[in-house]
Amino acid sequence: MVFDVERARRDTPGVRRVAHLNNAGAALPPSQVTEAVIAHLRREAELGGYEAAEAAAERIQATYTAIARLIGCAVDEVAVVENATRAWDMAFYGLSFSPGDRILTSRAEYGSNVIAFLQVARRTGAVVEIVEDDEYGQICLDDLRRRLDSGGGGEVKLIAVTHVPMQGGLVNPAEQVGALAREAGVPFLLDACQSVGQLPLDVQRLGADLLSATGRKYLRGPRGTGFLYVRRSILDHLEPPFLDLHAATWTAPEHYEIRPDARRFEAWETNYAGKIGLGVAVDYALSWGLDAIEARVTALAESLRARLQALDGVHVHDQGQRRCGIVTFTVEGVCAQDVWRRLAACGVNTSVSPASSARLDLPHRGLSDLVRASVHYYNTDDELDRLVTALP
Ligand SMILES: Cc1ncc(COP(=O)(O)O)c(C=O)c1O
Repeated sequence: MVFDVERARRDTPGVRRVAHLNNAGAALPPSQVTEAVIAHLRREAELGGYEAAEAAAERIQATYTAIARLIGCAVDEVAVVENATRAWDMAFYGLSFSPGDRILTSRAEYGSNVIAFLQVARRTGAVVEIVEDDEYGQICLDDLRRRLDSGGGGEVKLIAVTHVPMQGGLVNPAEQVGALAREAGVPFLLDACQSVGQLPLDVQRLGADLLSATGRKYLRGPRGTGFLYVRRSILDHLEPPFLDLHAATWTAPEHYEIRPDARRFEAWETNYAGKIGLGVAVDYALSWGLDAIEARVTALAESLRARLQALDGVHVHDQGQRRCGIVTFTVEGVCAQDVWRRLAACGVNTSVSPASSARLDLPHRGLSDLVRASVHYYNTDDELDRLVTALP
């Protein structure tokens, strides 16, 4: 299948200025997204914020419909929030834990999620267990099965897994984790922050009960946007950690009723321009097709890995049987920050994945900070060459 890279680049004004290989940080948005956001800000300036939201009600609702199509769920199972962390938090802090309850996670788990586990463990006496990696560096399904089967210890209350970690090209076998979770009757919370927009996601196939995602990365949406999926059957088992007049109705001076859909995890005030932009970004991704996007992104990433591996003193560190658009590497004798700075000075955007944000993973693999180059479908071979030739 031929990907129309020229069209993608015509839609992406940023590619004229920079070789943007920091898509796992925040991708360059297509002009369709930027224009939709600006148009709504103008409407707010001209009509008033509340009046503009009313005028754009259909467009706002369309964002929920687009997300539901993207991940294969119902519209009332979607909450739109500020970012992936808040989405994940609303789900995680909505669960209740008692002393001895077990939370199973993996080494690739996102650092902020681990901090939340530690806080809740300290508050409630729940126990966090790290499922070991298999020989490919992905979550070991046998170890997960063993831990689910082990009669000893407390009840497993949650399996929380990061689909694609911040610090590498690994794609965790989320579908198999979902199948084990379902078999064991344990809720499965999938952090899809880095996979949404670069891989096809279907919550039915993934077996995810809860899924968190962000707008600005591979989806190419505006910053400050994200969403949470909550399976309808689990909705009433979660107590939103915060309630307000949007999440609940104040039915009598001493009573309230929580709204019946996933929007109970949203706040009343929101960035409507961002929400509209997120919907446009999702529709835009769907118009390319997620299978086509994955094929293009994975091929570019594999090509970059091969070019880097061919260089003396450069080491690629991505794990997993299935890999995605994130490429991590080190250059012997040069710290990751210096490599990143040097590349930036040459007009190549990358980033650094610090070991301090991946303490269960990078130090365990004997690694320190990594340089991260994350490709998107609008990148070209020329841009990969620019990175390789600019390396110190
Ligand atoms: C795996 C993963 N989960 C969650 C997040 C947090 O996303 P956000 O910044 O949208 O809250 C990140 C951010 O890099 C991430 O890489």
